[in-house]
Amino acid sequence: MAIERVIMLFLLMGLANLSSIHVFGELDGHYHDQFRKVKSLKSSFLRPDLSTPSISPLPSPSPSSSPQSQVILYGKSRVFHVTSYGADPTGNADSTDAILKAISDAFASSSDGFLMDGIVNLGGAQIDLDGGNYLVNRPLRFPATGAGNVVLKGGSLHASDEFPTDGYLIDLSSPPSTSSTKIVKEAKNKSLGGSLSTLASSLSYNYEYITLRDLMLDSNHRGGGISVINSLRTSIDNCYIVHFASDGILVQGGHETYIRNSFLGQHITAGGDPGERNFSGTGIHLMGNDNAVTDVVIFSASVGIMVSAPANVISGVHCYNKATGFGGTGIYLKLPGLTQTRIVNSYLDYTGIVAEDPVQLHISNCFFLGDAFVILKSIKGEMKGVNIVDNMFSGSGKGMQIVQLDETNVGFNQIEQVVIDRNNVNGMIMKSTIARGSIQGNGSSWTVDLNPTLVFPNLIKYVQYTFSTSDGSFPNHALKNTSGNQVVIASNTPAAANVYVVAHQSAG
Ligand SMILES: *[C@@H]1O[C@H](CO)[C@@H](O)[C@H](O)[C@H]1NC(C)=O
Ligand SMILES: *[C@@H]1O[C@H](CO)[C@@H](O)[C@H](O)[C@H]1NC(C)=O
Ligand SMILES: *[C@@H]1O[C@H](CO)[C@@H](O)[C@H](O)[C@H]1NC(C)=O
Ligand SMILES: *[C@@H]1O[C@H](CO)[C@@H](O)[C@H](O)[C@H]1NC(C)=O
Repeated sequence: MAIERVIMLFLLMGLANLSSIHVFGELDGHYHDQFRKVKSLKSSFLRPDLSTPSISPLPSPSPSSSPQSQVILYGKSRVFHVTSYGADPTGNADSTDAILKAISDAFASSSDGFLMDGIVNLGGAQIDLDGGNYLVNRPLRFPATGAGNVVLKGGSLHASDEFPTDGYLIDLSSPPSTSSTKIVKEAKNKSLGGSLSTLASSLSYNYEYITLRDLMLDSNHRGGGISVINSLRTSIDNCYIVHFASDGILVQGGHETYIRNSFLGQHITAGGDPGERNFSGTGIHLMGNDNAVTDVVIFSASVGIMVSAPANVISGVHCYNKATGFGGTGIYLKLPGLTQTRIVNSYLDYTGIVAEDPVQLHISNCFFLGDAFVILKSIKGEMKGVNIVDNMFSGSGKGMQIVQLDETNVGFNQIEQVVIDRNNVNGMIMKSTIARGSIQGNGSSWTVDLNPTLVFPNLIKYVQYTFSTSDGSFPNHALKNTSGNQVVIASNTPAAANVYVVAHQSAG
């Protein structure tokens, strides 16, 4: 089980690499061919699953002859009201079957051609929760037909006490018997060195353009809120997701899940909760690339956002999920060696950011409050292309550094293009990769100690200095030493001079 997970993760990271290449447009034609072939194979695979061919007008009328079904029958509406299927909006009776029936009717309703290959365009069909609160005893898994352009909206779902602890209230994954499991098994057999087509086939999508909006999801401390597996262009908008035990939202594979304007918390609290020490779970887990999390609040969870695939953007996020002092993390970037993540305009509130071996990481215009800081954690000692600039840090004067290195595994030994600068700091210790200092002296040696500011303990790659005498003398002078971040300037004859130094720890 654990091994399977690891392999799955590894595979996904491999895929993520591949798609990132795609982002940069470096794929060759061969890959595209393979990709297309496998996709059309998959769609031919899926079409027979549809109860009706694409242009067929309507599904057979459902046994209940409710007014809603008639509306559908005459083709006037593609809004599927779950209450018309017998769902109980008071939340007393279990509504799983009724909602699943509404979903499957929406998926079978009619087709306006195709989106991506194999993805039937449902033309904007809507499953309407009619403003009710529904009890659900198992995941609302979307049909495995490869469909898109459909909306689920407007109500609350509440997991029952029987809800499976490994389930998600809304589950956009194809059932275990189809593609993804098979792909993982095949990939396992080919031990990742496998053919490109194996990889390509796992890049084909289950769903495209599914919108989940205006929903409150209560996982009842059993399982998670939403899982989006291998889907393309999913929109999660204005959702309030609480009481998850695993993840509020899990995104795995696929592309372009946009999570916006939403609120996630394991416990309903507005901060200062007496149980904060015990918060567990993850607000949002991104195991796929090219996603965006924007304008989202995570108000309780052990980890606010866990990112384990590259090319995601996090913007306008407020994390106060669990204070660092209680073992929480606001945003955890677990993609050592290929980070490619931007965190901008966000608010880290008593909880910070952890990045493992960051390679291409940008953190800017963020506000860190309550001694929150950034930890750069060494896995293999690699740190490249990191910008932590133009942020605001505020603390309580306990001497907390704004950026810290965790070199427990191994020291950082490959450091390139790291710029930590121009942050403003109140009540914490400024750390930077660019430091300035000056010293006045009368003698032949001047030492400026830049250790208090510089991030890396013994690394100066570039020094600029000004030597200004105040006694009219004109000695020769030179940079003698930068060891231990101590910049030593010496002159050939004694002089009274001011020495101004600027040193960079990563000059490109
Ligand atoms: C994996 O390989 C084994 C041994 O070669 C074979 O028996 C099995 O069917 C293969 N599984 C898949 C999913 O291809
Ligand atoms: C946190 O969990 C521990 C161990 O389960 C428990 O003893 C403690 O009462 C909990 N604290 C709060 C505040 O819920
Ligand atoms: C610098 O030191 C020398 C020798 O001790 C002394 O003669 C000179 O006045 C000093 N100059 C200044 C500017 O302090
Ligand atoms: C620079 O300073 C360090 C520490 O004082 C010393 O060990 C080293 O030998 C010095 N290097 C040179 C070139 O003087």
